[in-house]
Amino acid sequence: MVKKKTCIFISGQGSNLKNLILHSRENNFPIKISLVICNKKNANGIIYAKKYKIPYVIINTKKLNYEAKVLKTLKKYKISFICLAGYMKILSNNLIKNYRGRIINIHPSLLPKFKGLNTFSRMLKNKEIKAGCTVHYVNEKLDGGNTIHKKLFFIKNKDNEKILRKKTQKLEYRAFPEAIIKIFRNI
Ligand code: GAR
Repeated sequence: MVKKKTCIFISGQGSNLKNLILHSRENNFPIKISLVICNKKNANGIIYAKKYKIPYVIINTKKLNYEAKVLKTLKKYKISFICLAGYMKILSNNLIKNYRGRIINIHPSLLPKFKGLNTFSRMLKNKEIKAGCTVHYVNEKLDGGNTIHKKLFFIKNKDNEKILRKKTQKLEYRAFPEAIIKIFRNI
């Protein structure tokens, strides 16, 4: 099997990055993580790129030419697939156009509910019954592309934001690799 050369975009902890790296080391997993792009130089997630010897590039999105740098770096590493794993910046339309149908994101809610930030506090305020995560294609609308895979759990009375985040992340570690397998199974 020829694995798709993939770039993971991160901004923070990188626990999904670590999980995807471990899955990608299995023979029949469809992607190879060839590059990590991070917009924050002190992001914890970089330790996983270092530990597993994956090239990583820090790209400051405040610099004028950052988009050109992202595209150039993706080309240099011959990237054909992109996973956003806790990347907290909105991608430019040009990048989305260049990788149409080949960028996916994981979001900590059951989309289309709770797009954007602060998902858990809004869920609690809304007295939601269910929470979960969604893996979806990225298009020009924030958290708006087609859903690939979802996982849910029922919210308990004692669940606070911290507990919801923990339970959601536990599901994310299954949902993200399952979504990737689902995408490439039929190709
Ligand atoms: C994940 O829970 C992901 O769903 C969320 O950021 C977290 C990153 O954790 N993404 C978003 O909120 C995107 N809108 P990680 O850095 O430990 O993988």
